[in-house]
Amino acid sequence: MLKFNVIAAVCQNFGIGLNGDLPWSLKSEYEYFTRTTTHIYDTAKQNVVIMGRLTYISIHEDQRPLAERLNVVLSTAMTSAELPENVLLFPNLETAMQRLEQEDLRKKVGTVWIVGGSGVYKEAMSSPRCHRLYITRIKKEYKCDTFFPKIPMDFIEIHPGPESPRGLQEENGIQYEFKILEKL
Ligand SMILES: NC(=O)c1ccc[n+]([C@@H]2O[C@H](COP(=O)([O-])OP(=O)(O)OC[C@H]3O[C@@H](n4cnc5c(N)ncnc54)[C@H](OP(=O)(O)O)[C@@H]3O)[C@@H](O)[C@H]2O)c1
Repeated sequence: MLKFNVIAAVCQNFGIGLNGDLPWSLKSEYEYFTRTTTHIYDTAKQNVVIMGRLTYISIHEDQRPLAERLNVVLSTAMTSAELPENVLLFPNLETAMQRLEQEDLRKKVGTVWIVGGSGVYKEAMSSPRCHRLYITRIKKEYKCDTFFPKIPMDFIEIHPGPESPRGLQEENGIQYEFKILEKL
């Protein structure tokens, strides 16, 4: 069974978004997201980023699709004609995963990353396909209109590998920490 990881930046009041954008501007946190979701173990493969319609739209037009990753959008309202040719569209997460599992794509697929938003994170965390959660805990409260769902009890925190900087990070006086949780 093809598995996936979830990656999100979450503030102290569990917010992830405001007005279709991120509530904060943390350059090095975004660089961590890019580095983590792009990193591949096998150079013949490419990672996949799966996101809801609103998350895709929230990415600045000149930065989407996200580079060096196969972009997958989940939507029942969009049509493929509204997306660039190299972006895949599916009505839900499980249909997308089943397509990625088919032999022609499977051999090209590296790590699959679920990159938001709220409902997609919820569906992902309850799936047996979910391996790890890469959560950046931002140690500040922000006004938000979109929130990270409750993390199910069967995830436990593990020690980050060398790819995740350890301990408190700081940018423009805002502190945050990279955490990794794994499904039992
Ligand atoms: N802090 C972070 O790490 C982070 C990460 C990602 C996004 N964000 C922020 O979050 C906001 C966007 O997220 P969002 O939660 O509002 O929207 P979203 O999840 O990106 O998009 C919602 C749409 O995705 C489709 N969808 C497919 N499967 C779904 C499922 N299981 N649950 C819910 N929707 C599903 C539906 O499209 P149809 O209606 O077309 O069927 C739904 O309307 C923005 O503010 C963005 O900046 C933050």
